[in-house]
Amino acid sequence: MLSRREDCRNTLKKNMSTKRLKNIEVEQIANLHNKYIDTGFLSTLGIPFLKLIYQLMNNSNNAFYLIEVEDGKIVGFVSGVISIRGFYKEFFKKNFIKGTVYLLPKLLKPVTMRKTLETLFYPAKKENDLPDAELLSIVVEENYQGKGVARKLFIKLVDEFKTRGVFRFKVVVGSNLIAACRFYEKMGGVYDSETEVHKGEKSRVYKWDLMNERS
Ligand SMILES: CC(C)(COP(=O)(O)OP(=O)(O)OC[C@H]1O[C@@H](n2cnc3c(N)ncnc32)[C@H](O)[C@@H]1OP(=O)(O)O)[C@@H](O)C(=O)NCCC(=O)NCCS
Repeated sequence: MLSRREDCRNTLKKNMSTKRLKNIEVEQIANLHNKYIDTGFLSTLGIPFLKLIYQLMNNSNNAFYLIEVEDGKIVGFVSGVISIRGFYKEFFKKNFIKGTVYLLPKLLKPVTMRKTLETLFYPAKKENDLPDAELLSIVVEENYQGKGVARKLFIKLVDEFKTRGVFRFKVVVGSNLIAACRFYEKMGGVYDSETEVHKGEKSRVYKWDLMNERS
């Protein structure tokens, strides 16, 4: 039997090689991220850098992404990490040269350098007992918003976490992203705290404990 991801990929295009299909998938996801999470720090690093991140998620034990396909195109995706520290380590181990080439010109800007360091060191800031696992990004293309696509993706994400033996996870979301905050609240996220991943920019932390769920 096909997994949901394989099934989605098959709907995308039947006759393409898996490698090409994955590249198209990653390209679409990077574009969606760049367009709809435009206030996020990762988007400022550019599409090539985002593609490296999502390419790795495709093959990582530390992270994954899941997609929703309509009419042969990806209309939404969600990504999750089991351990963000583990994922960053894996990222720089596998993409040191490419990652540095993409990052270096951006790092010449002091603000980007500061934000890169804040992003990298954020996981080390253990302010309280927050789960390591994290919903990293979720996007639904605007023509498909308000139709339950993100809800479907969120349910898939929860299933995937459970399959990987993860029962607690969090999300860190810009406090100004009102729709996203309402969405996480609707999905049962429990507000934990306000934090600043980047100096002067407030984010809200929500968490889920799947052990408390009744099936
Ligand atoms: C947040 C986002 C993913 C929601 O996607 P969506 O497919 O429109 O959401 P759904 O249709 O599945 O909505 C599920 C619930 O979330 C809540 N919700 C979703 N969008 C909302 C909005 N704009 N305002 C208030 N509540 C909203 C609703 O309670 C909704 O339940 P209901 O339909 O029973 O009212 C989408 O708006 C998006 O891609 N935003 C841009 C990217 C972003 O900010 N991502 C989060 C940061 S990583």
